[in-house]
Amino acid sequence: MANIIVVGAAGRMGRLLIELTSRDPAHQLVAAVEGKGVPAVGADAGENAGIGKLGIKIIDDYAAVARVGTVTLDFTTAAASLEHLEVAAKSGASIVIGSTGFTREMEARAKEIAPRTRTVIAPNMSVGVNVLAKIAAEVAKALPDFDAEIIEIHHRTKVDAPSGTAISLGKAIAAARGVDFNANATYEREGITGVRPVGQIAMLAMRAGDAVGDHTVIFGGEGERLELTHRAQSRIGLARGALRAAAWIEKQQPGLYSMRDVLGM
Ligand SMILES: NC(=O)c1ccc[n+]([C@@H]2O[C@H](COP(=O)([O-])OP(=O)(O)OC[C@H]3O[C@@H](n4cnc5c(N)ncnc54)[C@H](O)[C@@H]3O)[C@@H](O)[C@H]2O)c1
Repeated sequence: MANIIVVGAAGRMGRLLIELTSRDPAHQLVAAVEGKGVPAVGADAGENAGIGKLGIKIIDDYAAVARVGTVTLDFTTAAASLEHLEVAAKSGASIVIGSTGFTREMEARAKEIAPRTRTVIAPNMSVGVNVLAKIAAEVAKALPDFDAEIIEIHHRTKVDAPSGTAISLGKAIAAARGVDFNANATYEREGITGVRPVGQIAMLAMRAGDAVGDHTVIFGGEGERLELTHRAQSRIGLARGALRAAAWIEKQQPGLYSMRDVLGM
């Protein structure tokens, strides 16, 4: 049984994770953590998630509960997750980070700290998206001259763009083609842009309403176009993936792992 700490307990993913953990006999919720000054601190985690009392109060001090034998599920912000990763590494807690929006510097720092404990960092925990990344890499290799464009749409309250998933799809395409991602990536177009550079990988973000997250990878060639689309219809697939990662990471050696490692792909 995994002893789960949900960090970001009052957020969209956090509340769903509390609900799923409390229903799943394979997991035991041992703590729920929020940011300092958040109104939900002090409330019962279950009541706050709309599933009735669980007897676990939301606290605002992650270091007080992180310890060996626990798995943290962290869906907060990139900056907060980096701080929590430091705490997890010091305390020996396993950690699954779903937060997105890591800058290159933050990513480098996370890669440095993560191997000190058992860590999964995955911008998208759904099985479908990870299969999409695998297929997109195969298509990128099979159609090396086709232009790769990634379009994503998310809810209006998402704070980072493009999505971590879009970036990871772009990285998968770059890796499959053996090219440097950062040197070929572009994130916007406006005005007289000139013709499309050969080998460019574009990630374009839309924000509207309550869209959970759609990603389309377009491969455009001469006289034909191949499009691969994944649509998240709810957060359930993402939360289930996070719990799957929690059960898996407990049995691994310390190190930094991806969702593809978790899924054995
Ligand atoms: N990897 C995935 O599969 C996946 C899926 C969904 C969302 N996400 C990402 O997860 C993150 C959260 O998404 P969300 O939709 O739940 O957002 P949200 O804004 O609904 O929830 C985030 C919660 O984190 C809390 N928080 C912020 N700083 C904190 C801190 N220092 N300590 C503890 N809690 C803190 C906030 O108060 C908030 O309640 C975003 O980065 C999002 O892009 C990833």
